[in-house]
Amino acid sequence: MMKIQNQTNSTYSPGMPVKGIRGQILSFHDDPFLKEPHECYDYIDDGLIVIQNGHIIDSGEYQDTVCKYPDITDLDVYDDALIVPGFIDCHVHYVQSPMIGSFGDTLLDWLKQYTFPTESMFVDKGFADEVAREFFKQLLEHGTTTANVFATTFETSVDAFFEESERYDTRMISGKVLQDRNLPDSLKDRSAEESVVLAERLLKKWHRRGRQLYAVIPRFAPTSTPQQLRLAGELYQRYIDQDVYMHTHLDEAQSEIDWVKELYPDQSNYTEVYRSFGLVDKRSVMAHCCIVTDEEWDTLHRCDCGVAHCPSSNLFLGDGMFRYWEAKKRSRPVRLGIGTDVGGGTNFSIPRQLGDAYKVAMLQSRSIDALKSLYLATRGGAETLHLEDKIGSIAPGYEADIAVIDLKPSEFIVWRMNFAGDIFEKLFVLMTLGPDNINRATYVSGRKVYDRDREKRYMYAAELDAVIQI
Ligand code: GUN
Ligand code: ZN
Repeated sequence: MMKIQNQTNSTYSPGMPVKGIRGQILSFHDDPFLKEPHECYDYIDDGLIVIQNGHIIDSGEYQDTVCKYPDITDLDVYDDALIVPGFIDCHVHYVQSPMIGSFGDTLLDWLKQYTFPTESMFVDKGFADEVAREFFKQLLEHGTTTANVFATTFETSVDAFFEESERYDTRMISGKVLQDRNLPDSLKDRSAEESVVLAERLLKKWHRRGRQLYAVIPRFAPTSTPQQLRLAGELYQRYIDQDVYMHTHLDEAQSEIDWVKELYPDQSNYTEVYRSFGLVDKRSVMAHCCIVTDEEWDTLHRCDCGVAHCPSSNLFLGDGMFRYWEAKKRSRPVRLGIGTDVGGGTNFSIPRQLGDAYKVAMLQSRSIDALKSLYLATRGGAETLHLEDKIGSIAPGYEADIAVIDLKPSEFIVWRMNFAGDIFEKLFVLMTLGPDNINRATYVSGRKVYDRDREKRYMYAAELDAVIQI
């Protein structure tokens, strides 16, 4: 079949099914913390996204673009909506979905009281399957198309997660959690050696299978023996050039930092503990980073790590307060995205995290505007996960993962929007008021896997392919 190159190298195959999405489009191509903010995004009032074979092949003004694709077979048109790249959740525990919103404890007690007993239940594959199904529905309903996800100790928890992800064809990152001390026997790895052998087996099974990606995941320094951290670091280093990740928690709460200091009195800080085991490197993603020293920010910058800011979780657990201006300091910026950290976080919505991020900043006499917030939720997340050439933007060549935000999700907001000016003022209202039904539709690899107004709201890739080919 003849292929025509368009301006940015993605290919269009005439005669093959083509899908279009029409409406207001907003997408970032650069980091507004580091560059002139208004030069970092593209906004089109009446735009068209053209999709073929799961990829965006074109995007531009509707009138200029539509005439190039006479064979668009399927066009979705959205009024009073904003079409954005699918949201990216840089840190979340799918296995904590059953205990989200549990009352009354700070981090270390909350882990003992609620988290560890819940995660122990994932030894049962049937339970893991059920939770994975519910988790994906929550993500897709809220417009999240990629997440960096903790499973737990058991192989069952990893298989259940990736199997469900394959059904939707979502681009996801996950892996077995490595944890061999300071937790109940029901959740503990039997030995450091055995745990890392299992992690490598799962890595070989799932990494780069379709859109799935694997992460080496030591839970946090206190729940691994030094031997497990050493073996985890070696595993990560063996596969780092094949794009395997390392994902863990860092500097979330003072009680945790104090504990790490007791366990490793000779290390100058918490980041150095991980670094001494080969865990701080170019594909490492650190969740939280609330209480971070200058030396640690320097190390995270030098090693090109990603950081996931999880504001609703930090507020709920009474952790530390994240300082985005330190994370994005121009002399040593890090890759920065947003995480829900469910079940520490209290909802699955990235826009609602943005509302909380604003408040965390305001408690420290700073603010963070909607422009920078939307960047963090999309392109910033993709950069954090080193996927900025594949997801997080709406442009030719990108994977067609898209969310459609309702600009009029309730009667009151319809009225409130009369007093909002440009698109960023409207977005700020939405992230601040945080309505639950903000997302109308979610596309994954070009397929509408979630549609708020369809009789069957969630559909797997194969079900959709049976209806229409894209
Ligand atoms: N630190 C270690 N484990 C966890 C966890 O499950 N949640 C949070 N928020 N912090 C952690
Ligand atoms: Zn977490």
